[in-house]
Amino acid sequence: MSGPNTDYDPVEVSTLQPEEVEAARDAALAAFAAAGDLEQLKQARLEHAGDRSPLALANREIGALPPQARKEAGQRLGQARGAVNQALAARQAVLEAEHEERMLVEETVDVTVPTDRLPLGARHPITTGSELIADIFVAMGWEVAEGPVIEAEWLNFDALNLGPDHPARTMQDTFWTSPAEDHLVLRTHTSPVQARTMLTREPPIYVVCPGRVFRTDEYDATHSPMFHQVEGLAIDEGISMAHLKGTLDHFATAMFGEGITTRFRPSYFPFTEPSAEVDLVCFVCRGSGLDESGADTCRTCRGEGWIEWGGCGVVNPRVLVACGVDPERYSGFAFGMGIDRTLMFRHGLEDLRALFEGDVRFTTAFGSEL
Ligand code: PHE
Repeated sequence: MSGPNTDYDPVEVSTLQPEEVEAARDAALAAFAAAGDLEQLKQARLEHAGDRSPLALANREIGALPPQARKEAGQRLGQARGAVNQALAARQAVLEAEHEERMLVEETVDVTVPTDRLPLGARHPITTGSELIADIFVAMGWEVAEGPVIEAEWLNFDALNLGPDHPARTMQDTFWTSPAEDHLVLRTHTSPVQARTMLTREPPIYVVCPGRVFRTDEYDATHSPMFHQVEGLAIDEGISMAHLKGTLDHFATAMFGEGITTRFRPSYFPFTEPSAEVDLVCFVCRGSGLDESGADTCRTCRGEGWIEWGGCGVVNPRVLVACGVDPERYSGFAFGMGIDRTLMFRHGLEDLRALFEGDVRFTTAFGSEL
């Protein structure tokens, strides 16, 4: 004999009793009302309206009831679950609205609050310095000319009267590019722009060319394998050394102030004849060679009263011929000086490298002033 099949005993289980259902419903409503935020409401939902909640478990029992009892229990349970779901949805809506309102307040961005998180930069002193120099010449009616930094060997040397075996080639230790058959160099000076200009324009020519140049120098406080020069070239009828001197005196005064003029010392460049080194009256001691106390030597010019500034001269007729300019009709002068050096004097910089390290504290201090 087998025993009674208890699973299917048509007995109304206790969880379906009206008091039990009411208690479960009321517990759910109380828990939803007590939930202070969406997270708490989620917990309450899992507990009171989820698959394992008392009302869901009770629901599973209905099927085992006889028809009349099943109908009653079904109604009772259905109403209770309906009330629970409604209360849940209502509470959910309230808490969501509250949450949204709070987020709007908490996440408000006051776009008028001042911020210093993006400090203002400055243009690099070499850029502003080059522009200042160009402006001085443009104000005299000159033009600005440019050339490439990777230059034909012929324009960097040969056109400027530095043939393959010219001893002066070693004055400028050169970076060559490969392959050697291309005969290209990183230009060692801005003078090839002279040649380019004469080859492409008819005199009169008055051009100034600031630019980057390269030599195989060590990188230290006073040398760099990359630095900047400014080249000047004037070609016209009747140009003499006197025009050169007057132009450089004006340049020096415009750059360093009234009373700062230049002197020439005899020198040699293959592309100019005669040639000179240009010195500048020391703009700190103004030529006295003494420091402010008058007792010691000036630190800027080391007591010389003069500062070396660059090279210059009357354009060698051989260069005019190589570049297609008639030396019988035209003559000219040229000069070239270091921009970096010029800025070092102007700002009292001790170390050239400050110009190339890209430290914003440096560029901000010096880049906006010029
Ligand atoms: N190119 C020369 C140098 O780099 C400077 C210079 C330019 C000299 C023009 C004379 C005339 O040293």
